[in-house]
Amino acid sequence: MNSLDEFIADHASCERKAHASAMMMVNRYPDYPELQRRMISLALEELIHFQQLFEILTARNIRLPSDQPDPYVKSLMSVARDPKDFHLLDRLMIAAVIEARSAERFCLFAAKLPEGDLKDFYVKFAVEEARHFPYFIETAHLLFPSSDINLALDRVLKQDALAVQSLPILPTVH
Ligand SMILES: [Fe+2]
Ligand SMILES: [Fe+2]
Repeated sequence: MNSLDEFIADHASCERKAHASAMMMVNRYPDYPELQRRMISLALEELIHFQQLFEILTARNIRLPSDQPDPYVKSLMSVARDPKDFHLLDRLMIAAVIEARSAERFCLFAAKLPEGDLKDFYVKFAVEEARHFPYFIETAHLLFPSSDINLALDRVLKQDALAVQSLPILPTVH
């Protein structure tokens, strides 16, 4: 709460990255039209989120920060396997876990905010973001057997546990 502007600026960057990562999937997987369709829908939603955050930054007189490496995401990406299909499954699970953790943090953030427009926005927002974890899991189920999905999710969650132990506490989403 003491670094409200910093948190909101980081959040805006996260939305821009979520949009970019969904569009990267659209570009990278031409053989999976259903995946592309779902990622285009998600990219639209994330772009609208980014626009909303950009307007909040502008109203608070904050500049959008330039892209910074995210050590949490980098740590999760380290478990993405190489072969093409497993790489896709791992990317979907990494995205699912990032979405789940982000939604958790937006809930915590919303709960702490004082009554007002910003709190109302984040309460609504946390509910919207909470849909993205199951969205990535459902997408994986269209393409992969449950046993592979469970295994891949487990690997990412183990890395998530390791990553959060080593990351410093900062006013950022992750
Ligand atoms: Fe979003
Ligand atoms: Fe999201």
